[in-house]
Amino acid sequence: MSQDRGSFGRLGFVLAAAGSAIGLGNIWKFPYMTYDNQGGSFVLVYLLAVIIVGLPIMMAEIVIGRSTNKSPVSAFLQLHHPAFSIIGWLGVVTGFVILSYYSVVAGWTVHYFIKGVYWSVQGFTSAEAATLGDQFGAFISNPSAQIGYHALFMGFSVMVVIFGVKGGIERLTKILMPVLLLILLSLVIVSMWSEGFTEAMGFLFRPSKISPDSLLEAVGHAFFTLSLGMGAIITYGSYMTKKESIPRSAAMVCLMDTLIALMACVVMFSLIYSVPAVEREQFSSSIGVMFTTLPKLFYGLPGGIFLAPLFYILVAFAALTSTISLLEVVVAFFIDQLNWHRVYATLVMGLTIFAFGILSALSLGALTGLSAWQPLGDKSKGVFDTLDYLASNWFLPVGGILIAIFVGWVLPKVFSRKEVEKGHGSFHLHGLWIFLLRFVAPAAIGWIVYSVIFLGKSYN
Ligand code: PHE
Repeated sequence: MSQDRGSFGRLGFVLAAAGSAIGLGNIWKFPYMTYDNQGGSFVLVYLLAVIIVGLPIMMAEIVIGRSTNKSPVSAFLQLHHPAFSIIGWLGVVTGFVILSYYSVVAGWTVHYFIKGVYWSVQGFTSAEAATLGDQFGAFISNPSAQIGYHALFMGFSVMVVIFGVKGGIERLTKILMPVLLLILLSLVIVSMWSEGFTEAMGFLFRPSKISPDSLLEAVGHAFFTLSLGMGAIITYGSYMTKKESIPRSAAMVCLMDTLIALMACVVMFSLIYSVPAVEREQFSSSIGVMFTTLPKLFYGLPGGIFLAPLFYILVAFAALTSTISLLEVVVAFFIDQLNWHRVYATLVMGLTIFAFGILSALSLGALTGLSAWQPLGDKSKGVFDTLDYLASNWFLPVGGILIAIFVGWVLPKVFSRKEVEKGHGSFHLHGLWIFLLRFVAPAAIGWIVYSVIFLGKSYN
């Protein structure tokens, strides 16, 4: 007897998938990518990438999951294409790998939330402001702090996933997503009064210089931020009921993810442009910027004592709804494929991923051997960076291209049409969708993979 897999209620899929999509990628990665790529045109290209590559692949993933009600490996077996179950295997490995380092950064947001509360109560002194960089450096190279917060965040994720699809994932995302939107909205409103707001809007939406590399970066990031290419959306799709519309749900998730990323940019850039140009230098693509620069800017604003802790709890929430989706991909595999009990699968895999993540946690300065490890030459430095490089440049694009090829070329068109039309009615854009999957998405992703292999580029 196999156990009941569970399924989402109304809006459950959209909120859970949006929760998965919205995460550190939106609030932490996207703003500094936009900054590095000079704003305006990059944002435009990114929007295009979401619409012509991200959205079609998201629909493809949902079709695979919902038509089979299975997690990725089992799904391709059930569709009688065992060779493609490699997508599922790759996805489980990718979920495992991403979660192991993602949870480390997610842990930082909890630490900074606590710090924010402390600053707000005790006062944010100029001595604190002057040492933010050093404090951050000391924190990420402190082994017990890194392992401790990583453990805490894995613990939170395990606690949610253990309660299953409806009682855990859906229940949490239904609470956290509206809260997250509310916090971000209030931050946007506050930032409208800051001096830098107008300049920030100009930077974000006025056309700017753009290089071919930025184009690739935009496509690569679309994958990461929409949780595509590793079966997270296949897995969530497998819990979606036939009453829901696939095109509308996918469009909603893409729209919400994009809006949140843009709102995060508005907040950050309004802050950044409120300081004199010389001090802006610090805002570059360093992993610490959210922790070393932002507090100073927040506490400079009226109401700053509320803003800093609010901001970090927002990022922590966003990260949590993403880590649970990563863990769910791994756990669902053991449930569907090996018939493990959910509680057992979650505990065992949570613990294993935690243990593996210790390598990343200690590779940001705590242990020299791990921090200086460079198996790929100068492409990455240390375990954390190497895993992120592999996942963002290899695993996700390769998974994505295979999914596009599968639904575009292998799965019969009548099959995909029938599935999409359940809960939607006749789908007039089916031809366009298949065209994007057949030609546009593989070309765009193939170009990334080509430039990673032959031109030595990296996009994380
Ligand atoms: N989409 C998440 C983010 O933007 C990260 C993620 C990637 C989650 C892949 C699940 C799967 O932070």
